[in-house]
Amino acid sequence: MEIKQKLFGNLNFENILLDKDFKEADVRAVIIDPVLKELGFTHENILRDKPLKSPFLRVGSKKRQVNLVPDYVLKVENGFAWVLDAKSPSQKIVNDDNVEQVYCYATHPEIRSNYFALCNGLEFACYKTGDTEKPVLYFRISEIDGHWDMLKKLLSPDSFQSGKKISYYSGIHTQVPEDFDYLKRPLLKEIPVKKRAARRHYGVHGYFTRQSWDIVNTYIKNFSQKGDLILDPFGGSGVTAIEALVTNRQAVNVDINPLAVFIVNSLLAPVNFSNFADSFQKIKKEYLSKEPKTKNDVNRILSEIKGPLNLKLPKGSDVKTVPQLFSKKQTAQLSLLKSIIKKEKDVNIRNTLLLMFSGLITKKNLTYHTSKIATKDGQGDASAMRYYRYRLAPNPIDVDTMTYFELRYKKILAAKKEIEQQCLLNQKTVEQTMADAQILKGSATDLSFLETESVDYIYTDPPYGKKIPYLDLSVMWNAWLDLKVTDEDYKLEAIEGGEHNKTKAQYNCLISKSIQEMYRVLKFDRWLSFVFAHKDPEFWHLIIETCEKCGFEYAGAVPQKNGQTSFKKRQNPFTVLSGQLIINFRKTRNPRAVLKANLGMDIGEIVLQTI
Ligand SMILES: C[S@@+](CC[C@H](N)C(=O)[O-])C[C@H]1O[C@@H](n2cnc3c(N)ncnc32)[C@H](O)[C@@H]1O
Repeated sequence: MEIKQKLFGNLNFENILLDKDFKEADVRAVIIDPVLKELGFTHENILRDKPLKSPFLRVGSKKRQVNLVPDYVLKVENGFAWVLDAKSPSQKIVNDDNVEQVYCYATHPEIRSNYFALCNGLEFACYKTGDTEKPVLYFRISEIDGHWDMLKKLLSPDSFQSGKKISYYSGIHTQVPEDFDYLKRPLLKEIPVKKRAARRHYGVHGYFTRQSWDIVNTYIKNFSQKGDLILDPFGGSGVTAIEALVTNRQAVNVDINPLAVFIVNSLLAPVNFSNFADSFQKIKKEYLSKEPKTKNDVNRILSEIKGPLNLKLPKGSDVKTVPQLFSKKQTAQLSLLKSIIKKEKDVNIRNTLLLMFSGLITKKNLTYHTSKIATKDGQGDASAMRYYRYRLAPNPIDVDTMTYFELRYKKILAAKKEIEQQCLLNQKTVEQTMADAQILKGSATDLSFLETESVDYIYTDPPYGKKIPYLDLSVMWNAWLDLKVTDEDYKLEAIEGGEHNKTKAQYNCLISKSIQEMYRVLKFDRWLSFVFAHKDPEFWHLIIETCEKCGFEYAGAVPQKNGQTSFKKRQNPFTVLSGQLIINFRKTRNPRAVLKANLGMDIGEIVLQTI
């Protein structure tokens, strides 16, 4: 069994930082105590809270005794081997005064140990007293499996027994082991879906389809190293880019849909949290003092403030234009709120508020669901995201504007805080992290802004045929956010059908072109993971053949669920899977041609069972 599983079971490390109740005492009980036990320490050689005789410090005319109480002193035979201090998850254990403090314990005349360590529940850092600049061992607790051998070698009781000769690792052990060989990366098995576990994605803003963050996160970590450049040319709501950034990689995210680009950019925009809170409170106050409630108020606002653009809805919609998706009262309230938001001068805060506003539009329209479960904590989507068409709800309810706007505030604040904490774990600010990101509106068929052979890994999930006409369906949000979609965008959108009646041949051609571009920008000996969720097995052959023609080598496909099993799939007891296949390709100098990508079963059958 892996050590992480053995020590911590299914503990969710992503949530520790956000859990205000997870304090230093929990770090000791939940993280440190099992680690020490597993290393071989027993209660006889663990001294808890040992008070050390302290020097007296003269402050002015007074003499004050300094308190020195290390959390753990680890004894081996008759000597003190090392000192360990627990910190709460929000505290730093590298480049911080905390390191100095524990150094003082280790060098204290009563201790004199050569090593000392700090652990905040999320990270572990061990230092040699001779060099406090850099830890000799540093790792995230969630990645303990890859560092366990080194930890044991360095700090287990065995390592300190007299007569033992130990050759200590002298470098900083933060990087992926040096023998990371891109070409020998294993194919991953199916990963359990944890869509709701990350606040940086869940509840931020609806999108038509979204990859589960933990799948993308695991793929990125498997196929790339820290610092690598990760590309998603069909980036959507930015799951690949965000996971690349929080795992300390650089990210390029491209999408033809301005709504998708707006969502990702506004989510990642760094804001000062206290200014953001002030701005929100100011807007709330002004809005509530002016909120139109009566018919007269509504008519007055409608005559004074512009509503959404009068854009046409796609065919198959229950009404013809965007304004018809809103009652007069909804339009008046939304217009007023938007006009107040627009007054915010800080562009990042303004865009974040508009992201909240856009999320509110998802709920505040005549297509929004009325189910009790859906409305309880703001779940549920506009029909465009649920049914892929504008369908008026049989019993529309009007959600309260400020209640839902405030809910959006809480969710997006939590998302931004989580992103900031992840950046800090990488010892970067959000601003520094964003310097490693390019979130661009563009087409996967033209990545000319990227140099040939410059990308280390591609994870992408393209549109699948007729299923979702993204640009057509985004019109409600675009009309409120003044986001422009050009004829050229429609021409380049890789879909079949839609308002522009695109043909299968056009769709195939756009997907093929995008694969050629992916091949060009990817470095040799690097990987492409291509999500396949098409109902038509013919499309499987198109992808495999196009990839092979470009020079990719097919390495294998893995069935992967991406969420709840659909109702249709649950109905059929013979279908075990619901979701997608992740097809993995390598770009090698001498690709083996796989005449027929063999999945051990007919692809038609697999598609039927999986997608
Ligand atoms: C399946 S979605 C991607 C969802 C994404 N993986 C996520 O987790 O949010 C496909 C995306 O491709 C975009 N798209 C369609 N044609 C495109 C093109 N030619 N270039 C770039 N993006 C395109 C759509 O706007 C849509 O956002």
